[in-house]
Amino acid sequence: MAESLHISAGDYSGDLPIAEGAIRATGLSAVPTELGPLTSYDPGFVNTAACRSAITYIDGDAGILEHRGYPIEELAEHSTFLEVAYLLINGELPTASELEGWDEEVNRHRLVHENVHEIIRAFRYDAHPMAKLMASVASLMTFYPSSRRISDAESRKLNSFRLLGKMPTLAAAAFRHSIGRHPVYPSDELGYVENFMAMLFQSQQRVWRADPRLTRALEVLFILHADHEQNCSTTAVRTVASSGNDLYTSCGAGIGALFGPLHGGANEAVLRMLREIGSLDRVPEFIEGIKGGNGRLMGFGHRVYKNYDPRAKVIKKAVDDVFEVRGTNPLLDIALELEKIALNDEYFVSRKLYPNVDFYSGLIYEALNFPSEMFTVLFAVPRTAGWIAHWQEQLTDPDQRIIRPKQLYTGSDRRPYLPVGDR
Ligand SMILES: CC(C)(COP(=O)(O)OP(=O)(O)OC[C@H]1O[C@@H](n2cnc3c(N)ncnc32)[C@H](O)[C@@H]1OP(=O)(O)O)[C@@H](O)C(=O)NCCC(=O)NCCS
Repeated sequence: MAESLHISAGDYSGDLPIAEGAIRATGLSAVPTELGPLTSYDPGFVNTAACRSAITYIDGDAGILEHRGYPIEELAEHSTFLEVAYLLINGELPTASELEGWDEEVNRHRLVHENVHEIIRAFRYDAHPMAKLMASVASLMTFYPSSRRISDAESRKLNSFRLLGKMPTLAAAAFRHSIGRHPVYPSDELGYVENFMAMLFQSQQRVWRADPRLTRALEVLFILHADHEQNCSTTAVRTVASSGNDLYTSCGAGIGALFGPLHGGANEAVLRMLREIGSLDRVPEFIEGIKGGNGRLMGFGHRVYKNYDPRAKVIKKAVDDVFEVRGTNPLLDIALELEKIALNDEYFVSRKLYPNVDFYSGLIYEALNFPSEMFTVLFAVPRTAGWIAHWQEQLTDPDQRIIRPKQLYTGSDRRPYLPVGDR
């Protein structure tokens, strides 16, 4: 039996068909109200689907995250970041030769035009690296004007390779500029993540090589951050793409959205909180403070996950590997104690508050020697894979149109203009 939603309002009575668990909001406009056709009001799009997407599936109650049907835990264990990027963008896991060709093609595009380095150099030494990343990514459109041909599939593909290839180069250049160092050029001898670390940390060595356990930990973090369906930055990318924009302009907007503390900045807040607590014996008192309304337990809770964030589970394993190489950090003991107490406390249990992806990631980044301003940059580099996949889906979906939401007008009624002297 076909499902439908019955609506009766005033003289109107009718049924809206339900398909894929949703009504079509445009169907509401058949229902008259005293202010005009019926519409829906949903700040923050909490219960509104703006697109159909085949990229990522999340079941927040069950703690499930899958890309193109593959569980995140399996991808984090067996894949490389570039393999996951292939999966997100192309829809299937690559064969061995497809993967080899893909890696080669992405890595071939790691160099940036020297003028892009000039753009980064033009910033003050203390400029936030996200601002440098946003400006340099947006500037790439001017270096590749043919990227504006967004209906040309070959152009979309070429510019996707370019952006994936160049993101680590731009992120590393933004970082090195802030410590007064010359950018390091990409090396053909190194893979994607290994090369990124070398571009960040190489000093006087001819070839800088990270401990493979550290490279793998960063690669796992990259995989975990590659996509998370219609989050704020991905929605920004889709919105900017919907008016017909190229990949660089769209992803520049995505970087801006990610920069906000409500989206990309929570892991920094977790570290601040752990430092504030300072020692293990202060944990119970801190938890009592939170329960009494004194702030929030940062890195806990999520809009979508009402269960353990599956990414947090994977990160916890990576923490052990990193600390094995770098030596432990007393803040980790505080984090483990917080988690232990919170998971057994009625306040957190009844509200379904579990550790999210940010609870442990800051500790890893710090152990890898990153300053806290770089944490969001380390999120933007892998999220580019997801942004590219969604940008392409947005542009090729025949259902899509320019994104232009409605509003409920709350301003003044019509009134005549008053000359300035009469006001
Ligand atoms: C992520 C977050 C914004 C989700 O918010 P949300 O889905 O809108 O949830 P709400 O703000 O409605 O919270 C629901 C209840 O849980 C409580 N709560 C939510 N997160 C909490 C936290 N981290 N610590 C303590 N209490 C929390 C709220 O106070 C509220 O309690 P109440 O019902 O008694 O009023 C929120 O959990 C949070 O602020 N977490 C900390 C920041 C963080 O880690 N962000 C990274 C997200 S990846």
